[in-house]
Amino acid sequence: MKKLISFTLNGHEVSAEVESHRMLLELLRETFDLKGTKPGCGQGECGACTVLVDGVNVDSCLYPAFEIEGKSVTTVEGLIGEGNKLHPVQKSFVERGGIQCGFCSPGMIMSATALLKDNPSPGDEEIKRGISGNLCRCTGYVQIVESIRNAAERMRENAG
Ligand code: FES
Ligand code: FES
Repeated sequence: MKKLISFTLNGHEVSAEVESHRMLLELLRETFDLKGTKPGCGQGECGACTVLVDGVNVDSCLYPAFEIEGKSVTTVEGLIGEGNKLHPVQKSFVERGGIQCGFCSPGMIMSATALLKDNPSPGDEEIKRGISGNLCRCTGYVQIVESIRNAAERMRENAG
């Protein structure tokens, strides 16, 4: 069965025909060609596919595309500002070594963005909790936590 759904994708109104078994991850990558969102385990365990739905981080591999009707989806591409300016979280990951092979990075960045929206000054334990659904094989997490701490500082300075 197919259904026409409409939603907001990275700030733009879009619509697509989706089949009932289709997940948001496939819709983003295949229909909208947004390849920043990564397919990892496909089972809700690695967080590589994390995107924001109405500001909340979700595993898009388990999120039925049907259910995004009327909602707002943000992918890692949608964080980039005018003139291709990186979002503070993206910038801090690049500068503080939070990215190595990069496979986990889009998902990590989306979880970090959701965390900092709710908690602009997280402690290290809160940061670790915020990314507990995202696995990284490369960094040992130290640089990722440092990147998020740095992004929080940057965002507080920008807001001040
Ligand atoms: S691919 Fe979605 S959680 Fe691993
Ligand atoms: S940077 Fe390689 S998996 Fe995290």
